[in-house]
Amino acid sequence: MDTKVAEIIASQPDSVLGFRSFKFGNFEFKRDAYFVHISWPKGSHTMEIDRFLRSLVRDIGWGFFYGWIFFDDVFGTQNHYGTVDIFAGTYSKAHRDSEIDYLETYPTEAVIKAFEAIANDWISEGYDPLRAPLETGSPMGAKGATRTDPLVRGFTPAKRMLGLPGDVSPRSDQSGHPINRAFEDVQFDQPEIITEPGFEGQLHAFNLYDHIARSDVTWNPSVTAVTDASICCVTSEEHMLPCIHGNDRNEWFIQLSDEIHWRIADKNTGMPRGRIIMRSGDVCAMPADIRHQGFSPKRSMLMVMENGTPDLAERYASGELKPYPVEALENA
Ligand SMILES: [Fe+2]
Repeated sequence: MDTKVAEIIASQPDSVLGFRSFKFGNFEFKRDAYFVHISWPKGSHTMEIDRFLRSLVRDIGWGFFYGWIFFDDVFGTQNHYGTVDIFAGTYSKAHRDSEIDYLETYPTEAVIKAFEAIANDWISEGYDPLRAPLETGSPMGAKGATRTDPLVRGFTPAKRMLGLPGDVSPRSDQSGHPINRAFEDVQFDQPEIITEPGFEGQLHAFNLYDHIARSDVTWNPSVTAVTDASICCVTSEEHMLPCIHGNDRNEWFIQLSDEIHWRIADKNTGMPRGRIIMRSGDVCAMPADIRHQGFSPKRSMLMVMENGTPDLAERYASGELKPYPVEALENA
């Protein structure tokens, strides 16, 4: 694939709503009060501005994640871990058949810069796309005051285990983040810690539910534990995952509370493959050849396990590993 060198080019603010338009490579992005309009040499697309912005900040914050992030059925990104595709219609059979699909590949850093420029101009004070819709304002209408807090909460590495002296994690129990309204009825028992003499101050345990219940973001990791290539994220989820995630490897879900409804489709065509309703205690593995989107009717807690082994995407893509985890384990 050819990697395109591109820089984001911004227009002057429009005189009516105050937003800039942007050109990046051969893609153009314009917004109005309700929608984003994306165009490319062979076609164009319109999407709700709220959904676009909620997907955009997560795509930046997740570093384009594993595989594909579909902002909707037409537009999205694919991570090649060093470069990123921006595509329109590439994974929509109708767009491919109509020959209006389009894809360009850029260095990762350039895409981050471009998406950050759009997010900074189009997201105003009072609207936080990482919060649940009931807990923030609206992005619709004219441009408001510029936001001064970070749009994307970057990951803060823990200096010590959560709760031990020296822990500076922003969501530790001492952070002042309140228990979310959805979890006010939950009992948060604290574990009993008995330390052998000489190890005082070095052993700790905490109630993970208490921790997740204080998360102020949705569909975005509250805590991530990384051990070599094993990645474990816990998240609180409410309303819908704004983007659709296309897997390039297996992904395990453990539903820790409440329920999430998953819509699962073929990654390349978007044809329906299944629906899963996960309730508290349920475990499932998303295959490596699907796209999926979650809907959480009320705030719930989810644990996500990812395998970050560097060459895994190619091994699945080549067919060396089957898309289902049990078959993959047998072949490993
Ligand atoms: Fe996913």
